[in-house]
Amino acid sequence: MGNPKYKRIMLKLSGEALAGTNGFGIDFDVVNRISQEIKEVVDLGVQVAAVVGGGNIWRGRDGRSMDRTTSDYMGMLATCINALTLQDSLERMGVITRVQTAIEMREIAEPFIRRKAVRHLEKGRVVIFAAGSGNPYFSTDTAAALRAAEIEAEVILLAKKVDGVYDSDPRINKDAKKFDKLSFYEVLEKDLKVMDSTATSLCKDNDIPIIVFALDEPGNIKRALCGENIGTLVGN
Ligand code: GTP
Repeated sequence: MGNPKYKRIMLKLSGEALAGTNGFGIDFDVVNRISQEIKEVVDLGVQVAAVVGGGNIWRGRDGRSMDRTTSDYMGMLATCINALTLQDSLERMGVITRVQTAIEMREIAEPFIRRKAVRHLEKGRVVIFAAGSGNPYFSTDTAAALRAAEIEAEVILLAKKVDGVYDSDPRINKDAKKFDKLSFYEVLEKDLKVMDSTATSLCKDNDIPIIVFALDEPGNIKRALCGENIGTLVGN
C-alpha cells in the first residue's frame, strides 16, 4: 500500500453502516472496526472529517403520514446519536475528536464553526459533523458535500454497502457493470444515484471528487486514500 494521495478528507458513512447485518441500531463491533480504520488513516497524518447518516435509527417517513420537516429533524437527531457513538469509539482508541452540530445543542457538542473545525483538523483531531446541514429537505450526503467544500477537503470517501457504482443494481442483476470512473455529468444524466442530485451538483460545482467504495472490506478506507482502484471515482 502506497502513501496517501490526500491530506484532508471527508468520510461519509451511512447510518446503516453502523448497524451491522441487522440493519437497525448500533453494532459496536462494527463501529469499533470502522474507528480502527479511521485511526490507521489518522496515523498516516491524514486530516479526517466525517459525516454520519442516521438511517440505522430513523429512516424517514417510509409511508407514514408525517410532516416532512418533522421527520427530517428526527433524522438529524439520529445523526447526533451516531456521531457521539463514533466519537466515543474513536476516543477509546486514543484518537482525539470533536463533534460539531449544525443545530445548537451546546450541552452535548460544539456548534459548527468552520474556522474552529479547520483548526481542529490542523491539530490532527477527527471532526465529526452532526445534524446534517441543519436543514430539512437536505440529505446527509448534501451535508457531507457542503462541509467538504467549507473545510476544503480534497476528496469525499463515500462508504457504501456496494463496492462502487454500477449501471444497474448488482444485488438484482448479476450482469450489472461496475464503473471504474464516472463524470458528475454522467451520474446526473444517467440518474445513477451515487448521491442525491443536490449533493452531486455541489461536488460538481466545487470540483470535489468522490470515491465510492465498500466499507465491509477491512482496510478499504486506507486503500481508497492511497489511490488503489477499489471502487468508482467520480469527478469532473
Ligand atoms: P483549542 O484549544 O482551540 O485547540 O480547541 P479545543 O476544542 O480543545 O478547545 P475548547 O476549549 O473549545 O474545547 C474543549 C472541549 O470542550 C472540547 O472537548 C470541545 O469539544 C468542548 N467544547 C467546546 N465548545 C463546546 C460547546 O459549545 N459545547 C460543548 N458541549 N462542548 C464544547
